[in-house]
Amino acid sequence: MDKTKDGLFTGLMASCAFGLEGVLAAEIRALSMEGVSVSDARVTFSGAMDEAMKANMYLRTADRIYLILSQFPVESFDMLFEGVHALRWAEILSSDAAFPVRAKSVHSRLFSVPDCQAIAKKAIVESLKRTYHSDWFPETGPVYTIDVALLNDIATISLDTSGVGLNRRGYRARTAEAPLRENLAAGLILLSGWRGDKPFLDPFCGSGTITIEAALIGTNIAPGLLRNFAIEGWAQAEPRIWAEEREKAKEGIRCEKPAIYASDIDGDVIGIAKENAARAGVDFIRFLQAPVALVKTEGKRGTIVCNPPYGERTGDMKQVHRACKGLGELFTASGDWTCCALSAFPDFERWFGKQADRKRKLYNGNMRCDYYQYYPNLKKNKTI
Ligand SMILES: C[S@@+](CC[C@H](N)C(=O)[O-])C[C@H]1O[C@@H](n2cnc3c(N)ncnc32)[C@H](O)[C@@H]1O
Repeated sequence: MDKTKDGLFTGLMASCAFGLEGVLAAEIRALSMEGVSVSDARVTFSGAMDEAMKANMYLRTADRIYLILSQFPVESFDMLFEGVHALRWAEILSSDAAFPVRAKSVHSRLFSVPDCQAIAKKAIVESLKRTYHSDWFPETGPVYTIDVALLNDIATISLDTSGVGLNRRGYRARTAEAPLRENLAAGLILLSGWRGDKPFLDPFCGSGTITIEAALIGTNIAPGLLRNFAIEGWAQAEPRIWAEEREKAKEGIRCEKPAIYASDIDGDVIGIAKENAARAGVDFIRFLQAPVALVKTEGKRGTIVCNPPYGERTGDMKQVHRACKGLGELFTASGDWTCCALSAFPDFERWFGKQADRKRKLYNGNMRCDYYQYYPNLKKNKTI
């Protein structure tokens, strides 16, 4: 079903962590989607229901996928009410649909989020009343979360098609301390350039997130295969199309397994990581309990992607220094290996022993981090 044609939806938007927009846009283009446009923490593109389903199923770095209903300027609550009220809500929401409203406001005159939320809800209810000739909506049916985002006095009204955030792939029942979000882990791997063609290692694997995401990428397992999405419960969704998409995703899985290694100093977290890998269907990852100082890489070429401790929770700076130094030594001893590390520790490069060849600003939740990338051909230079 393509509702873009009759003007109900104006396109799609994928949200993501700050710093991952470029890699998300590349993923969207790789799905042959058109009209891709990048802005802070979001990528917009053309499409409607079918494309939203695909985006939920295949995008590894997105947080959520939204169907955009409308964009209009807002300088007053009246303008917000009128803009929301003008939409054809009864064509989207059945009389029993649940429609929670989520609002946010950045650099806008209307800054009271609870008021924006209440006004938008009232506008939708008033619009539904007219069509359904009823004063009361039980909201017991399928959930359509309505997103009202104000940015620089422009309101974007959209439907959240994902429901639970896309980082929740469904394989992580237990986590170790300071786990990375699954979609950020996938972003780190895609930024490293690794695509399953060489050995891969995370020597600080914790709950295993980075190596599990690498295993999914390396075997082409769709990140959404294990879970459901809000859009699947909607009246407009066609279960047959979903079933076909899931079958197609399963057919795309590669049998050949890349060599993926995961290690951590803590034996308990290795147990958690193994459970998570088994749940994700990637139990070919080879796990080892060892401090980074004792880890050795195999083979001439490969990629390390990791998230070493940075003392955020434990505050143990000696552990942080040991970890960064050990990682630097592992990189130096590892032939033509690339090494990429996400860290919020400001002295990372000094303890690693080398200045990064490339440094990107990324956010782990609200925490500002740097992604340090070291390439093998530059290994002998830049010792600090
Ligand atoms: C920030 S956590 C990694 C979290 C992981 N990316 C995840 O998603 O669960 C850092 C990990 O480094 C481990 N660690 C600390 N010092 C280490 C060392 N010297 N060698 C190896 N692992 C170490 C800790 O046990 C912890 O699991």
